[in-house]
Amino acid sequence: MSKILKVVGASWLQTKISSYVLGILGVLAILALFVGQIERIQEDGNYAATVFYSEKTGYRIEYWGQSNELADIPKGVARAYFRMDIDTKGWSLLEVETDASYPDEIQAYAAGIVEGALTWSLIHNHLENTIRARCERTPIKKQCNKLQDALDKSVDVWKTHAAENSGVNPFWHQVSLYYIQISGIFTGWKHGVERSQNEYDTDISDLFWLNAMGEVKEIQHKLNISLDDVAIDALPDLSSAFLRIINETSNDGTITKKLYLAQNSAGSYTSMTRILKRYKLNYHETSGNTSSLVSGRIVDFSGYPGSITSQDEYYTITGNDHTIAVAGTPLKNYNSKLWKEVNITHDVPLGPRIVAANHLANNVSSWAHILASSNSGTGSKQWLVVDFARIDKIQALSSQGTLSKQNKNDVISESSIIRDVKHTVIHTSGSDAHSKGLALLIEQVPGPHSLR
Ligand SMILES: *[C@@H]1O[C@H](CO)[C@@H](O)[C@H](O)[C@H]1NC(C)=O
Ligand SMILES: *[C@@H]1O[C@H](CO)[C@@H](O)[C@H](O)[C@H]1NC(C)=O
Ligand SMILES: *[C@@H]1O[C@H](CO)[C@@H](O)[C@H](O)[C@H]1NC(C)=O
Ligand SMILES: *[C@@H]1O[C@H](CO)[C@@H](O)[C@H](O)[C@H]1NC(C)=O
Ligand SMILES: *[C@@H]1O[C@H](CO)[C@@H](O)[C@H](O)[C@H]1NC(C)=O
Repeated sequence: MSKILKVVGASWLQTKISSYVLGILGVLAILALFVGQIERIQEDGNYAATVFYSEKTGYRIEYWGQSNELADIPKGVARAYFRMDIDTKGWSLLEVETDASYPDEIQAYAAGIVEGALTWSLIHNHLENTIRARCERTPIKKQCNKLQDALDKSVDVWKTHAAENSGVNPFWHQVSLYYIQISGIFTGWKHGVERSQNEYDTDISDLFWLNAMGEVKEIQHKLNISLDDVAIDALPDLSSAFLRIINETSNDGTITKKLYLAQNSAGSYTSMTRILKRYKLNYHETSGNTSSLVSGRIVDFSGYPGSITSQDEYYTITGNDHTIAVAGTPLKNYNSKLWKEVNITHDVPLGPRIVAANHLANNVSSWAHILASSNSGTGSKQWLVVDFARIDKIQALSSQGTLSKQNKNDVISESSIIRDVKHTVIHTSGSDAHSKGLALLIEQVPGPHSLR
């Protein structure tokens, strides 16, 4: 009996110990969960930084690390979130926002600093994979220098000219901000490299090149140099765009028209360090202090490190009353007469003109007009420009029955805007004014039109 009791007693003790062990294990498990969660929150992969500015101290950048509530990040002049998702999604993400109460020049510079500081390592990788990999071979080095000189010369001319006219002229104001933002990226990039204690070579000319990737082909042709492999050079540009309106039937049976726009562009594998960018730059029309805000406030685009325009040329621009999407596909110039018109010191390169059009236009036609201003003939493209806000308006009208039946035929008409926009195909889905301005196809080739 006692033996049995003893056994019972022993198992009671054992049970007690094992429940202690279980208890401790449970606490450990909860702790592990808790710690794991903290760790996960600490490493959400979203890096944040803010650039502050005061007249006394100048620009100051504050890095907030990861795992911040977006709303809690101080605004400063410019703040940014950056997420490096190349390994999982193939794309990194960058969002930059500036404060409208600061002068545009300070917004632009701060936006550049915060981007350069957060993306410095990608800028470095991209540069090594593209320009530097190509240019370090000796016979090509000379040609690279020639191209770099041409780009720098163009920058000098337009930076000065734009700054002089930015007080009164909206176009030149945006061109000026374009160059200021790139200078800001250079400052941020250098800061990022120094902070990480690397000894990478930083050069602002490299940034001007990264910002002209889509137009250096034409400049090379003009300079009678070629930096690409001959075989690659001979390939046509592999890029296409697609626009379609379809009927979509919802669950309750109503049919709505949906507009789809798609674009693809091709490049070498080594150039595929990609960043999806969103700029919320609260610029004004001119640098005058009573100037109103620009109409294109949010610009999203598929882009590359160090470049403030897309280079693939895919944008969506959101304003108060418009949502414009832009898809560009490159055109090759086989017309020897037109090559005379290609000159990036006589006319403004593509990048600044795109930035001006994105910020200033509030409809597809004004976008085309601004892009055509001072056309340098480089980066020539066929542009498909669509206003998504317009299709919603048409939709609303047709659901009210305001659109008459005869307007349902699709009509394609062709007209010409100004001399250097050779063909402008306006696709309308009705013969009246309702759907005018829905989409525009612009073929841009080198042509004489100078704002100077
Ligand atoms: C272009 O360069 C090639 C050699 O690379 C040369 O043979 C040719 O004469 C040059 N053409 C012009 C117009 O300078
Ligand atoms: C879309 O629906 C309309 C009627 O609402 C019809 O006339 C038209 O043919 C349809 N289009 C397509 C592509 O199915
Ligand atoms: C705008 O500029 C004028 C003249 O330069 C100046 O007198 C005025 O105080 C400025 N206003 C603001 C709000 O900065
Ligand atoms: C480009 O334009 C500039 C300024 O008008 C001029 O000085 C230069 O000679 C032109 N270059 C070429 C290659 O035509
Ligand atoms: C487009 O915008 C410009 C500039 O704001 C304006 O002059 C023009 O009338 C607009 N065009 C259309 C079709 O709305």
